[in-house]
Parts: sequence; C-alpha cells; structure tokens
Amino acid sequence: MRSRFFQSDWRSRAACRSAWLSLFLSLALSATANAAEATAAASLPHLQRSGDVTQLIVDQRPFLILGGELGNSTASSPEALSGIFPKLRRLHVNTVLSPVYWELIEREEGKFDFGLVDHVIDEARTSGMRLVLLWFGAWKNSVSSYAPAWVKLDCKRFPRVLKRDGSAVDILSPLADETLAADGAAFAALMRHLLEYDGDRHTVLMVQVENEIGMIPEARDHSPTADAALARPVPKELMDRFTRGGDDALSRDLRDRWQSAGAKTSGSWVEVFGANADGEEVFTAWNFAKYVNDVARRGKAEYALPMYVNCALNRPGRAPGQYPSGGPLPHLIDVWRAAAPQLDMLSPDVYFFNFADMTERYRVPGNALFVPEAMRSPRASANAMYAIAQQGAIGFSPFAIEAIDDVETNLLGQTYGALAQLAPQILEHQARGETIGLSPKTGYDGSLDDSPQTIALGEKYTLRVHFAGGKRGPIDPAEITSGDPAMRGRNLPPSGGMILRTGPDEFTLVGNGLTIIPDATDRAMQAGLLDVEEWTARDGKWQPRRWLNGDQTNQGRELFLPMGSIAMLRVRLYQYH
Ligand code: DGJ
Repeated sequence: MRSRFFQSDWRSRAACRSAWLSLFLSLALSATANAAEATAAASLPHLQRSGDVTQLIVDQRPFLILGGELGNSTASSPEALSGIFPKLRRLHVNTVLSPVYWELIEREEGKFDFGLVDHVIDEARTSGMRLVLLWFGAWKNSVSSYAPAWVKLDCKRFPRVLKRDGSAVDILSPLADETLAADGAAFAALMRHLLEYDGDRHTVLMVQVENEIGMIPEARDHSPTADAALARPVPKELMDRFTRGGDDALSRDLRDRWQSAGAKTSGSWVEVFGANADGEEVFTAWNFAKYVNDVARRGKAEYALPMYVNCALNRPGRAPGQYPSGGPLPHLIDVWRAAAPQLDMLSPDVYFFNFADMTERYRVPGNALFVPEAMRSPRASANAMYAIAQQGAIGFSPFAIEAIDDVETNLLGQTYGALAQLAPQILEHQARGETIGLSPKTGYDGSLDDSPQTIALGEKYTLRVHFAGGKRGPIDPAEITSGDPAMRGRNLPPSGGMILRTGPDEFTLVGNGLTIIPDATDRAMQAGLLDVEEWTARDGKWQPRRWLNGDQTNQGRELFLPMGSIAMLRVRLYQYH
C-alpha cells in the first residue's frame, strides 16, 4: 500500500514536476517568442516620440526623409523608370515616393504580379536609396481610375457613389463590402510580398494607403446603402471625442460644426451633425476612414510598416462637395483619428503658398508631420527646411521630382546635399527643440510679407532676419507644378533657411537670400560675431572653405547668405559691453 502510495505519490509528483517544467518551458518559449517578436517589431521602420517631436526610426536610427515623389506614370514600366534613380541620387534625394498600381499588380482577380514593384525596389537599392510606396488602390485623387478592369467593369459587385439625382460618379463607394474585401486582399498581398522581398533590407520605409481620397461633386454618397447608414447612430468612438472634454483634442472647425447642429451627444448622423453639406462631410469622412483603416489593418497584419494617408487640401471659402470632401483635411483630423487608429499619420499635400499655416495645422498631438507632396517650385528648398526645422517634420517630398532638369545647380538639390550631411545633427537638435526654420510669411494667394523677423536663439541672443524677398526672382510658370490654374504663373522668392542651435553661443545656418543680425537679450550687452566659418560643397561633400570677416560680415556685424545658391555657415557669437 505504502509503496504503492509512495509510487503513486512519486508518479504524481513527477507528473506535477513535469507539468511545471512544461509550463515553465512554454512560458520561457513564449517569452522568448514575444521577445523575438518585439525585437523584430523594433527593428522595422517605425515612428518614435523623441523629445519634442516624433521621428522615423530606420535600422535603429532616426532617419530624415529627403524625398521626391515620382510622376504618376513614371513607375509604370521599367523603361519609363530608366535613369530616374541615378538622376535623383545626384539631387541628393534619399527616399523616392513611388506609386504601386492595383490595376497592374492584379490584372486578373487573385493573380498577383509584383514584378514592377520588385523592379522599383531593385532600382532604389542599386542607387542606395529608400522608398515610400503609394498604394494607388480604390482611390487616387478622389476617383477610382487605378482599380483593375475587373473591378471597374462590375458595377454591381463594386458599386459607385451615386449623386442626389441617382447618376453615378467614378468613385467606388466606401460602403461596399466587396470593394473593401478586394482592395484589402490586394493590399495585404502587396505587404506580404514586401515582407518576403524586402523584410530584411528595409528599402521600403513606409506605405501610403490610397491617394488623396475625397468625395466630389457632392458631399456624400446618395445610394440607398449610404442613406441607410446615414440614419444609423453616430458611432461611440466618434461621439466620445466630442464629449470627453478638453477642447484641445478637437479641432475648432469640427466643434463649431457640431455645436451649430445642436451639440447633441447621440443620435443619427443627420441629428448630430445636421442635414447639410457640412454634416454630410463628417459622415463621408467617417466612412472613408473606416474603410482605409481596414485596408491598413489587413496590410499591417502581414507586414507592419508605418502607414499614412495624404490629403488634398481645400481652398478657402468653398463648401463641402465643391472640393474633394471627407479626406483627412485639417477640420476632419479628429474624425479620421477616431475611425482609423491603424494609420500612423495624416499628411498634407501642400501645393498652396501658405506652407507654414498648412503644415502647422497637422502639428497636432500624436500626429507626426510628413509632407508627402509639395510644389516643385523654387520655394521647395525653403519649405523643406521650414518643415524639418520649424515644424519637426520627418521629411519632405515635392511632386514629380524627376522633372527637375538643372540637377547640378538646383536649389532643392543643393539643400538636400547639405541636409544629408547634417542629418544626424539635425535629428539630434530637432528632438531637443533646437532647430529653427526661416521663412517669409506667405498667404494662401501668394501674398508675401517679407518684413524682417526677430527670432529668439536660446536664452542669450535674438536674431533679426531679413529676407531677400524684395528682389523677386524671374517668374517661371513651368516650375509651378500645381494643377490649380490660380497658382500658375505665380512665384515667390526662394529665400529661407534653417538654424541648428549647437550651443549657447553657436549655431549652424543653412539657406539662401538672408541677412541676419545678432543681438543680445540682455539690454546691457551687445552681441557680435566671434567667428564665422563658411562651408561649401566640394566633390559632393560640404567642407570648410573660408573664414568670413571684414566686408563679408560687415565688419563682424552681419551674416549674408546670397540669393540663388545654398550656403552653410558655422557661427560663434559673443557678448561685450
Ligand atoms: C496630387 C496627387 O496626389 C498626385 O498624384 C498628382 O496627381 C498631383 N496632385 C498633380 O498635381
């Protein structure tokens, strides 16, 4: 008995031990697996809050996107792409934003061909560059022209948006399950393929989901499905944004729309946001954002790169429906963020002149700033520096970058050359709030206020900044790439720059068309230039060239950056009395 007891006791203890052992092993294994997963996730390109800003981390280091977006059809064949990457390399572009086209990836339903995608990746690798891929899926500039033929031709399975009069618009409805399933499956296949082809190389840093989404020429879909959705209650995730208190979380525009509709905390879309175009646009934004969130979720389940959407900004004074409505516009940021938590960023395409105002509107807590499209005008150089230094952007990227012809002398190319070399310092000082962007004030209509600005440089100094705006450069309409006729033939002087505050009495200055005069914050003191070192680009590298003094600094009093080419100065200041 006893022995049996002991035996069984021994057995049960052994069984117990082995159960503990296997539990311990499985916990250890799962901890190892979790740790491995965490390491793998940390090694993917990702966004990370760093001091004052959010930065893009690539291969464990902060990365600055000196970007350029390709024209829409440039990545549609190897022939069209031939020679482009080496040219962009000479412009010091380090990241190319390239479309990938649903219609060419999935010509036949369920059969994927990633040959063209691989070709773009190979080209980038050969030139030592990175990529951001733009998913031209269900929507590109509002319409659905990049959907494959089998989608375009099947209106029943993939319904279009309907206008009030019942006629169709060439916009796939975001309320169609089959469209979402097909678009999402293709996007998931793309991300699966990117993991296989590029998961260990990280040539592809981020992915843009769809392109410039927006409803036009009416603020919402009028199909029976949309009518039914409009009558349903506003989802709690969105309502919570209005009721959780603290105005900061919500844009003033959106709060105003809600308040003018009666500030109700529950009800149908019409009840809460009103039976008008303003209210309808909120409904449209929610549906687009929910759809995109699902596409992004499916993609991230395969390969979790950072994902974002880009926004076609609207002109002042237009009503919803008159511009592509419901996209991630400044007044709809809260709707998008409530509906699409899978998106890492909402990003403005800034083709308007009021670059500073527009980028400011996307500097909301939790949204890293990235400018995926901008005018490829002479102001691109100053705008790039302003975005990065003043607005803490992770990067900047003018549209149709390959159309630049004056590669060796181009102002943006020179700027990118300087910024590429300074990138580690820029990122370090950006995170510490020690970068300043210099730009004259410009209005939406191109009006220019180039009066001098006084800016603080740390505790001890102020700088009086004069812009060479008085002497406007020659107007070259061909350089304005905006599709907006109002923008054509307009130009602004390219003067602008950036400052890295490298110490209490020193800074690095990059820019063009500026005169800068230091002053002491302490009224009892005077400020002067202790020494000024000029750096220039030689053999593709910025290096020290001259000590500037005498006439070149107005006898130790002023810094000059000439118009027309990028200069870099390392400056030390001092005080005397
Ligand atoms: C914005 C779009 O996102 C781009 O694809 C391109 O069509 C430009 N507009 C053209 O200005």
